[in-house]
Amino acid sequence: MSDRTAPQKLLLKALAGEKTASIPIWLMRQAGRYLPEYRKVRADAGSFLDLCYNPRLAEEVTLQPIRRYGFDAAILFSDILVVPDALGQKVAFKEGEGPVLEPITDAAGLAALGPVSGVTKALAPVYETVSRLKASLPSDVTLIGFAGAPWTVATYMAGGRGSPDQAAAKLWAFRDPMGFKDLIDILVEATIEHLSAQVDAGAEVVQIFDTWAGSLPELSFERFALKPVQQICDALHERYPGLPVIAFPRGAGGMAERYFKVTGANGLGLDTGVSPAWAKQHLQPQGCVQGNLDPLLLVAGGHEMRGQASYILSVLGEGPFIFNLGHGIVPQTPPEHVAELVKHVKGWRS
Ligand code: CP3
Repeated sequence: MSDRTAPQKLLLKALAGEKTASIPIWLMRQAGRYLPEYRKVRADAGSFLDLCYNPRLAEEVTLQPIRRYGFDAAILFSDILVVPDALGQKVAFKEGEGPVLEPITDAAGLAALGPVSGVTKALAPVYETVSRLKASLPSDVTLIGFAGAPWTVATYMAGGRGSPDQAAAKLWAFRDPMGFKDLIDILVEATIEHLSAQVDAGAEVVQIFDTWAGSLPELSFERFALKPVQQICDALHERYPGLPVIAFPRGAGGMAERYFKVTGANGLGLDTGVSPAWAKQHLQPQGCVQGNLDPLLLVAGGHEMRGQASYILSVLGEGPFIFNLGHGIVPQTPPEHVAELVKHVKGWRS
């Protein structure tokens, strides 16, 4: 790994707590179906997981948005569900349906999983993608690796698919907290190994996606969202001192403040529901924040998109800040609106 003491790249400066001269920008799901060049590669690749496990094609789709827009960071093209897949809970992505897994809801299901030690072996193609990207990315672009947070991955493992209320995982956690914790513990360990292997291959920053953090009541949030991410941050910081970790506890609301403090994350991703003014007061003093334009403003574009982006920039651009969306780009986003947003953010001065 390179010297982390004096970062040169814009995104790394912001994550080190600096107010940067211009605001770094990347967007969650910046590679994906809104881009015609992605749809072409996707159609040729076979299944979605075939694309994730093909280093040449995964590298190509990671680079597509960098070529088009000149973002400050590239995020590895993969998925949070490669971890259950590597643990032996086979994952399929069905057209128009999203991910489908054979649900695991008890100790017998856990016992049927393979060992955590097999995860990095199974995911070797993903790390090869990271190595290739490290060699091919422009020198001013930061490479972000990622994983799902244990809680969010567990919601898919227990439910067998996406759900509006995460009921299967919540009921397991509420009825049998000790048994559910066994699943979380497996995922903590697997996630540490998966993220470490990405850093070893060349990822400079890692982001932990906790998409469903907001569905847990406070006491369960503490135990199944905050604590596992704290364990992951601690282990990564011990192995890689100075590694910037961004956590994205979507929907955490007022619990985000304690979460940011206690997990030891270096950056906090904000969803669309977080008030920038509140974040400036309660979160930014602790470190870099990232967010949080509504993805549908990017679909709408024009004056309203620019105005709301300016509002976020004017409130959070005075401190360490990375511009992003409050959640991922949606497929109906016009690619030219993304170009317009990047131009707007890059032209912004406080
Ligand atoms: O951000 C990027 O560009 C990097 C790649 C990336 C993908 N998924 C590619 C993807 C990342 C970082 C993810 C994270 C992810 N995956 C999350 C957390 C962030 C979030 O969006 O909440 C979650 C919950 C998943 C699980 C997942 N993957 C679902 C529920 C789905 C189906 C819904 C959908 O959008 O289709 C996926 C599929 C998926 N992951 C696609 C992409 C580009 C679309 C599949 C396709 O191209 O056919």
